Amino acid sequence: MRRLFPVTEETAAQASGGAPGADAADREWGLDELAAAYAYPRAGAAGGPGGRTPWLRANMVTTLDGAAQHEGRSQPISSAADMRIFGTLRGLADVVVVGAETVRQEGYRPARARAEFAELRAAAGQGPAPAIAVVTASLDLDFSLPLFTSALVPTLVLTGAAAPPDRVAAAEKAGARVVVAGDGRGVDPARAVRALGDLGMTRLLTEGGPRLLGQLVAAGVLDEMCLALSPMLVAGDAQRIASGPSVAVPARFELVSLLEDAGFLFGRYRRR
Ligand SMILES: NC(=O)c1ccc[n+]([C@@H]2O[C@H](COP(=O)([O-])OP(=O)(O)OC[C@H]3O[C@@H](n4cnc5c(N)ncnc54)[C@H](OP(=O)(O)O)[C@@H]3O)[C@@H](O)[C@H]2O)c1
Repeated sequence: MRRLFPVTEETAAQASGGAPGADAADREWGLDELAAAYAYPRAGAAGGPGGRTPWLRANMVTTLDGAAQHEGRSQPISSAADMRIFGTLRGLADVVVVGAETVRQEGYRPARARAEFAELRAAAGQGPAPAIAVVTASLDLDFSLPLFTSALVPTLVLTGAAAPPDRVAAAEKAGARVVVAGDGRGVDPARAVRALGDLGMTRLLTEGGPRLLGQLVAAGVLDEMCLALSPMLVAGDAQRIASGPSVAVPARFELVSLLEDAGFLFGRYRRR
């Protein structure tokens, strides 16, 4: 792993043949270094967590030809470094917001409490692991799974007011916390973000999938995009990382940092 942007004195020295600095040398980064590289905006900073405004970042991986999955899963287009960043972003988050189809297809489990992040989380006033928040209209989920029955922090089910009452009851019986964030069957993305903020969750991470991410983009609530560019081509008809109706005006982001590992590029982009 090495840093390509921003260009620091260390990266510049390496580019001109000088001694590689800590950031520019290609070596495995510790989770503490990754956590520092992906820290949420400082508490109290404008628009950042710590105030009442939640900060929502997404973490996705895409191939060179824009595929967000291969044979229905993201694992084949991921890498070890991508998974370390995936774990780090979870380690920093209060809650992981995810669409029900990703939960079903990727077999989501509760987030683990990892010793590597314990100190950081305690210092940030966070519990040992982030909650998982599943966005669903149907609640067509297997509530006997560990995601619902054995989560350290109760799994949240984000749904609309008109969700099927029997499924809501099944979710609650399994130990999930049902949060209504929409007037009809579906969830209003902006309302979901506000509802999580009202629960004291300000460091939000979404792991997609594309249908959910598209709505978060369209609603203008995505603050940051962490994107892994996988050096692969898969062709076919895979989804892109965000789908659904296109936005009227493209949402513009700026590059905050770019890391590289084994040909994978890890960009961090912030909404302008
Ligand atoms: N490349 C990556 O980084 C990445 C990341 C994540 C996922 N993926 C891949 O993406 C695929 C799944 O993504 P997807 O786009 O099909 O699905 P998704 O966004 O994960 O989930 C869609 C489901 O979420 C629920 N949902 C979405 N918006 C909602 C709203 N406004 N209100 C209520 N419920 C809502 C609905 O669930 P119900 O049907 O239960 O109502 C909907 O069917 C998988 O192949 C996965 O591997 C790739």
